[in-house]
Amino acid sequence: MAEPTSTKQAQSQAVRLARKTQSLDVLYAIASSLNQPGNLEQLLDGFLDTFIELVDARAASVRLATGDGGTRLVASRGLAPEVVERDRLMPAGRCPCGLAASQGGLRVQRGTAPCAALIGRPMLEQDCAEFVAVPAQYQDRIVGVYNLFLDRPLAAMGEDMPDLLITVGRHLGLAIEKSRLESEARRLAILEERNLIGNELHDSLAQSLVGMRLQLKLLGESLERKDIGGAQYEASRLRRAMTQANEDLRELLTNYRLKIDDAGLAQTLANLVERFGRDTGIAVFFQNECHALALTPAQEIQVFFIIQEALTNIRKHSGAHNVRVLLNNEEDLYTVLIEDDGLGMAGAGEDGAPGAHAGLAIMRERTERLHGQIVIESEPGEGTRIVLMFNAPPAGAPAAAARG
Ligand SMILES: Nc1ncnc2c1ncn2[C@@H]1O[C@H](COP(=O)(O)OP(=O)(O)O)[C@@H](O)[C@H]1O
Ligand SMILES: [Mg+2]
Repeated sequence: MAEPTSTKQAQSQAVRLARKTQSLDVLYAIASSLNQPGNLEQLLDGFLDTFIELVDARAASVRLATGDGGTRLVASRGLAPEVVERDRLMPAGRCPCGLAASQGGLRVQRGTAPCAALIGRPMLEQDCAEFVAVPAQYQDRIVGVYNLFLDRPLAAMGEDMPDLLITVGRHLGLAIEKSRLESEARRLAILEERNLIGNELHDSLAQSLVGMRLQLKLLGESLERKDIGGAQYEASRLRRAMTQANEDLRELLTNYRLKIDDAGLAQTLANLVERFGRDTGIAVFFQNECHALALTPAQEIQVFFIIQEALTNIRKHSGAHNVRVLLNNEEDLYTVLIEDDGLGMAGAGEDGAPGAHAGLAIMRERTERLHGQIVIESEPGEGTRIVLMFNAPPAGAPAAAARG
């Protein structure tokens, strides 16, 4: 008599255990899909793909809270394009998404007829059994909502399914918040970069203009004295200075047009190096030995421009045949090496007006911003070697950078 009961108990325990394991699997898959590098759009696409498969949903979508109680559709799977188009922006409302976004909690609705009434056309060709809206929460703030279109009612999917969906919403909320902070940090880094562009313009162009004004004055004086030889000399100096200023400006513009894209520093550097090789015909070797390149956007920008200036110098001054760019890290200590087999710095000779050579000074300034060190070694005929070292931010620093 006791036998069948305990067998039954054991069976139901086994079922519960299997469900728990499955829940953990789901959470694990979701967490790792949300921890991939990439922008928010790619992240959400990965999330939806993973999730649809795991809970066997017909369609799914993610909406971001707009701050005024409304939500904005940012990613979807399994919905027709016309539906996505009409569904893009939903004002605050008493629909499941609106409620989940404003008051939180898991919201379940039978089918999608009320949604269809709101957007003015059916959500799915053939309606689903249940429509679920779950808040994406970061700490106590709701940053968005995700939706599932299910053929099987939620209640049939196990008693811990609602908790699981809420937990997934927390993972999603964290990912959304993290991506918001990252783009905010990137924006601030760009603002800071503008200041530096100002400095660089001042150092190169403003100085050249001051020099040219002086030459113009000398030219005028020569003309007044009717000193034709002197005037010709000043005029040719002026012409050279203008050509130089024009080149400087063009260089500044091409350099700053390049931005660190979402693909991240490693890819941006690979592109830069490839373009350098193509434009100059110099054999260039780029090696990224970093295990994980985890820099703040502000650090990425400094590293990028330091390497870019080094490459520009190699092109302009070195006469090198081979160049090597190396990225390396040991835990938090990053090393960047740029080396060429050209003439070396002393061998390149001195020319140009005072103030024209701002590149190395700005490299040092950027190194200071990284709180790092830079060593420039160069022997005549032995090429030049630049080694930059700095520490990656300790944990938590990206958020601090975003706050300024
Ligand atoms: N890789 C290099 N090989 C040879 N000479 C270099 C190299 N990098 C820099 N130099 C020398 O150092 C000088 C200063 O460089 P920089 O401050 O960048 O000014 P600019 O590039 O405007 O001349 C250059 O004019 C050049 O003489
Ligand atoms: Mg330079």
